[in-house]
Amino acid sequence: MELFLKDSSATPGKTDLLAVLAFEGEKPELPGGVRVGKGCPKGFTGEFRETRSTDSGSGPAARVLFVGLGKPKDLDPERLRRAGALCAKRAEEEGAPKATVVCSGPVASVLGEARSGRALAEGLVMGSYRYDAFKSEKKPAKLRSVLLHGPGRDFRAGAKHGECRARANCFARDLQNAPANHMRPRDLVASAKKLASRSQRIRCRALSEAEMKKLGMGCLLSVSRGSSEPAFLIHLTYTPKGRSKGRIALVGKGLTFDSGGISIKPSAKMDEMKYDMSGGAAVLGVFHALSALDLPFEVHGVVATSENMPDASATKPGDVVTAMDGTTIEVLNTDAEGRLVLADALCYAVDKIRPDTILDLATLTGAVVVALGHELSGIFPSTDALRDGLLASGKEVGELVWPLPLLDCHKEQMKSKLADLRNINSGQGNGASAGAAFLATFVGDTEWCHLDIAGTAWGGIERDWVGGPQGSGVGVRLLLEYLETRAHLPKGVR
Ligand code: BES
Ligand code: ZN
Ligand code: ZN
Repeated sequence: MELFLKDSSATPGKTDLLAVLAFEGEKPELPGGVRVGKGCPKGFTGEFRETRSTDSGSGPAARVLFVGLGKPKDLDPERLRRAGALCAKRAEEEGAPKATVVCSGPVASVLGEARSGRALAEGLVMGSYRYDAFKSEKKPAKLRSVLLHGPGRDFRAGAKHGECRARANCFARDLQNAPANHMRPRDLVASAKKLASRSQRIRCRALSEAEMKKLGMGCLLSVSRGSSEPAFLIHLTYTPKGRSKGRIALVGKGLTFDSGGISIKPSAKMDEMKYDMSGGAAVLGVFHALSALDLPFEVHGVVATSENMPDASATKPGDVVTAMDGTTIEVLNTDAEGRLVLADALCYAVDKIRPDTILDLATLTGAVVVALGHELSGIFPSTDALRDGLLASGKEVGELVWPLPLLDCHKEQMKSKLADLRNINSGQGNGASAGAAFLATFVGDTEWCHLDIAGTAWGGIERDWVGGPQGSGVGVRLLLEYLETRAHLPKGVR
């Protein structure tokens, strides 16, 4: 779907479906020249997510769609995003190739023009996402283009911004949704290289197993031992145009399939483990938008990508492996492999990149799903500033996060009698914190936040622009919002 923008003062041109956003209890305001029958839309109250469509009596639109926003006092970006997504969904259902969506001045004034444009454009683009790469009979989308009318230049700038973020989200979803036999570590590398080739400001390097061996990444390599597919460490670098406001490392878990290895998973839902690269997909998704958004940070993306498979040469429970920084690890469960690949990725980030801040994203634990379900990602921020920044960003973009504890006693649980660390605790519970405590060992004093996205990467409730069994692209817009907000703060303040 292509998105075009116009000022709301312009009279709408010929369109198959014209969507009007309306508050509860207020008469929907129709743009000039557009008419519907008397008393129409019948029974429409403007309740949030209520939609009603009707033939247009005369004027440029064949059909008119009314979309309820609820009460103005309850309007937030998520409601507007969902309203945008509903416009796209209904237009598709109606088979309208060309739709027009009108956001009036009074509607845009509630959240401000830029925010309104951004939320609506995000909803329109993400709401039209579909994944049919593996259908032999392709049914192309009926909705080809949307013309979004909104008040003023700020609205249009916001909408452009929102479109850019939403396309990055959809890019990450494509990576997630691809089945594991088509999205192998080497395919993730190819996607990263392609991203870099599209922008002069992005470079991509992929470390081979031989190069990783030289660096001493015994942890990451212990995970790929059981797979016939070689592992890689992807390193993307974005260089800003002007002076950099800081150096940020985004680290992603890129397990293109996690069978559990020798500690093999039960077969029910094992297919979902193709999504175990969602952290890596989110990192690549951020890079999809970086150049267009002109972010003033030096951003590094580090994705540890591998398969976790059982095989004669696979790592066995009880084996001891050594991380890049020399830490020895007793692998008591080969299914706790995410923390192993991340250990070396974090060592690499600290040692080779020396960032001001590290943010890692990983579908790390089933325990975080027990704790927080599918609507919140668990975060383990090392500073209050990171916690507050991520909480606020999550709320703004509709990707909620919730801080979970990381205590010294959790770190104690990860000590091994045989080696320095063990990769699981000894059954104390607190599985998500145990995973974070293991990772904490490898970041030293660097400001850091681990985001456990195991619950949110797929399987959330239906929210018009997201939800259901497919990948959600979680993390992409969250990180972009966080980085953009941080870019506006004076240097040193976060
Ligand atoms: N990729 C899984 C975590 C996961 C589970 C993500 C379910 C999404 C849904 C991870 O590698 C894993 O298997 N973790 C283990 C850790 C345990 C062995 C300590 C888990 O959560 O069971
Ligand atoms: Zn696992
Ligand atoms: Zn995993």
